[in-house]
Amino acid sequence: MKAAIIGDIHSNLEALQAVIKNIKKRSIKRTFCVGDLVGYGANPNECIELCLKEAHAIVAGNHDYAAVDKTDVRTFNPVAAEAIRWTQNNTKKENLDKLKSLKLSTTVDSILLVHASPIKPEMWNYLFSLEEFEHEFSSFKEKVCFIGHSHIPSAAFQDANGYTDFLRENPFPLIAKRKYIINVGSVGQPRDLDPRASYAIYDGNNNSIEIIRLEYNIPLAQQKIIDAGLPEVLADRLLMGK
Ligand SMILES: [Fe+2]
Repeated sequence: MKAAIIGDIHSNLEALQAVIKNIKKRSIKRTFCVGDLVGYGANPNECIELCLKEAHAIVAGNHDYAAVDKTDVRTFNPVAAEAIRWTQNNTKKENLDKLKSLKLSTTVDSILLVHASPIKPEMWNYLFSLEEFEHEFSSFKEKVCFIGHSHIPSAAFQDANGYTDFLRENPFPLIAKRKYIINVGSVGQPRDLDPRASYAIYDGNNNSIEIIRLEYNIPLAQQKIIDAGLPEVLADRLLMGK
């Protein structure tokens, strides 16, 4: 199986369209989504509808659940909370119902999809340090777990002896008897100081994974945020990649 894994789209239609176009250009037939379709950006309906059309499996992110009151928005910072309230007022009921129906995790073949962390997806914990990644491996049986949430692409493995480390090459091979946690980065709001959209390609035939970065029309996404009356800092950060 060859598949694209996308996530943290955050209502950024320009970024999502660029990523979908790139996936199609590579003739990849399956797409999975690790959540956060909405929040921050100006096109929640279009992003939900395009994701539902293109993705074969989608799990919920904390912003998706906050938009439908399944996660407490009071845990969000003020700007994120304001964007959630805007999203609630500007998203069709049928699309909000789709967000409400998303599950916290799902397995496709030997792949686990979850937004934040495999141990307790509902806690929305962030994985940054090696210790934080190491702690998670015993909680799932699949060979590869794809995550998002931090908006920072990264990859960690654990071998049969429990040795855990980050992978720094890209692309990288999947080695027998190792398990992997891959953060695919963010389509619509990257935070690793690289403003290009990020997603991952899983190649189960050649046993490899690659993180892809793509330029997209950032000025248009920024203008839409400003025109929508969303906080301007959300437009500024798209260009900064943080
Ligand atoms: Fe996110």
